[in-house]
Amino acid sequence: MWDQPKVKAFRESPLPLAFPEDRVALGENLDQAVRLGLKPEGGFAENPYAFTEADLLRGKALYQSFCAICHGVRGEGDGRAIPLGVPKPRSYHDPAVRDQPEGYFYFAATNGFGRMLPYKSRIPERERWLIAHYIKRCLLSEACPEEVVHAEVH
Ligand code: HEC
Repeated sequence: MWDQPKVKAFRESPLPLAFPEDRVALGENLDQAVRLGLKPEGGFAENPYAFTEADLLRGKALYQSFCAICHGVRGEGDGRAIPLGVPKPRSYHDPAVRDQPEGYFYFAATNGFGRMLPYKSRIPERERWLIAHYIKRCLLSEACPEEVVHAEVH
């Protein structure tokens, strides 16, 4: 099998193969705000969900499972993977990051960011929004419910 005497190339397809530019993979959401985290008219998409306090607890657990290993439990960019060679991300408390809308964190989780990998195929859409919501409300503002701040989540 490794040594194939036949070297004749396949012939070109007789059919024109033109794919539309906005082609999306099978099963992907066609709504650009969901798929990319961007509004069609520009700017970051807005969170379509109203989350409860119980949701926030789950957001904390999700953040700690998926993001804290690099971004740190408080979002300071000092997660446990950094000393092992992962590039150090900016702290979320850096004004350039802190002042971004929730959609910025959804965008990064969806598409990846620079050297960070995307989580679109690993974390469902609603959960990506929940993580973004947790970051803005609990790591970057004082508006986090006490129970969520003190909860031990796994
Ligand atoms: C494996 C490590 C790793 C994990 C896990 C990770 N990130 Fe990142 N993230 C990075 C790195 C590294 C950067 C900076 C990339 C660069 O600048 O090239 C970054 C950048 C970001 C930024 C942009 C910050 C800025 O400088 O403006 C956001 C927002 C972000 N990540 C959110 C998340 C969220 C949300 C999660 C969890 C779903 C997550 N990240 C998980 C490594 C990680």
